[in-house]
Parts: sequence; C-alpha cells; structure tokens
Amino acid sequence: MLSMAAKKFGLKCKIFMGAKDIKRQRPNVEAMRKNGAVIVPVTTGSQTLVDAVSECMRYWVSNCDTTHMCVGSTVGPNIFIKICAFSTAQISRELIKQVKEEFGRIPKKLKLINCVGGGSSAAGFWNEFMDTHAEFIGVEAGGPRNSKLHAAPLTNGSKIGILHGAAQYVIQDKEGQIGSTESISAGLDYPGISPLHCFLKDSKRARYTSASDEEALKAYQLVSKLENISPSLEPSHAFAEAIKLAPKLKSSEVIIVNSCGDSIKDKDIIKQKLGTYVR
Ligand SMILES: Cc1ncc(COP(=O)(O)O)c(C=O)c1O
Repeated sequence: MLSMAAKKFGLKCKIFMGAKDIKRQRPNVEAMRKNGAVIVPVTTGSQTLVDAVSECMRYWVSNCDTTHMCVGSTVGPNIFIKICAFSTAQISRELIKQVKEEFGRIPKKLKLINCVGGGSSAAGFWNEFMDTHAEFIGVEAGGPRNSKLHAAPLTNGSKIGILHGAAQYVIQDKEGQIGSTESISAGLDYPGISPLHCFLKDSKRARYTSASDEEALKAYQLVSKLENISPSLEPSHAFAEAIKLAPKLKSSEVIIVNSCGDSIKDKDIIKQKLGTYVR
C-alpha cells in the first residue's frame, strides 16, 4: 500500500524489511519493487519484523528533516498507533453496515475473530463495534507445536516492557531484553503487541488466544477448499480459532472472521510446508 501511495504521489519510498522476511514474502517484495520502492534488507537480530521496525526508526531519527516514517501496524510511539488505527477502522465502518443489512441489526451473539500481530487489522475490525455487545477474539501466533518459541505475548502471560517507544506486554527475559519469537506467519512474528490491545485485554473487552503453525496451516487448507477464498497465513490463525469454536455454538450464533490477507504472498512457505500451492 505504501509503495503504491508513494508511486502515485511521486515520492521516494524505502521499505525496511528483515532479510528472513524478504525471502519468505517474495511476492510482496516483487510487488513493492515494481512500484519503485527500494527494499532495505535488515540483517540484525532475528532478521524479522521487530528488527525491521527498529532499523526503520533509526533511519528516520537520523533523517527526519527529509523523511516521514510510516508504520504498518498499531505499534510505535502514540501518534503512529492512532494514524494506523484510524485508517484500519474503515474495515469496521463497512462491516457494521454490512452486518445490519444482512441481519437487520447486530446479532445478539456475535463473535468477531481477528489475528493479532501488532494488532492493526484487529483494531480496525473491532473499532465500530466497541460500544456494542459483540465479542472480540484476538488470535496470536502460537508458533510451532513442539517449540517453546511463539509470538503470543498476551496469551502466554508476558510482562509489561518497552518496545519501539511504547509500554506493552512484550516477550522478554528477566533483564527486560526482548525475547526471540517464531511463527510460520511473517506478519504475526513480533514480540510485542499494540498498547491498544493491552488495554482491551486488561479491561476484558477482548479475549486473546493463540493458534499453532500447524493449526493455521490446516485452517488455510480447509478454508481454501470450502470457502472459495485463499487466506494468507495471518488470518489462517483466526480461521483456526473459528474452526475450534464453531462446533460448540448454536446455529443462531454468528462468527465473522477477518480474512485480512491473500495467500499469494505466502506461496513459497505454503509450497515448502505442504508440497504444493494451488491458487
Ligand atoms: C495479511 C496480514 N494480516 C495481518 C497482519 C498482522 O498485522 P496486524 O496485527 O497489525 O494486523 C499482517 C502483517 O504483516 C499481514 O500482512
């Protein structure tokens, strides 16, 4: 999106991306390059999202006379969270209209399920429903089933720390050093979580859980087979939770999952894990 906007307005665009994510999100990288963006590989730390955000902030503070920083999730210092959450709220502005058209009102039992990395799509999906009775369920990345590593600070009881200019629940060691994460999904592979979601958890307005890599992959397969859509690995985590919950519900209860990305960007990982990728 950012590279498209930059192209439209004739602005230079630099995208900071972890070297590991450049490899595993190749289609996205190619699309951004086509729009004229320069991709800056970040080779520090785990070479994923957390390091890319750090490096982008370092670049920006050294070049703030000539550059703006744009953050693609509800993370970072306060104003960046607000800008991002305001923009993504358009999802629920449209969704609430569609829900009222479909059901004539907001259904009595409505669950809105969204994956949560930094938390921007969930914040946008839920925003207009905040003062309604709709239940919010955020699904973090539980990582590989047999690994201690994950990217689920809210589900796993991480403590408050500071990351990227904001206090938040964050995966950390005893000394407060940011901990390692692992997830099949590049977009959820982040040790922190927006302060917005920390508040929603503490105030019990939303509940958070996680899905493992394996559960997300299975959900991707099932949804692609049955629903005529092909979700990326991030929303596949949310679909995994919907698949767990649905058999326990009455038919009058409604679940809506935000299918916030397309699998095409994950085609290399999916092919590697499942041996085939069909779109
Ligand atoms: C398709 C998709 N969905 C979800 C996410 C997770 O980010 P957030 O939690 O900010 O919505 C990402 C992040 O890159 C993504 O690419």
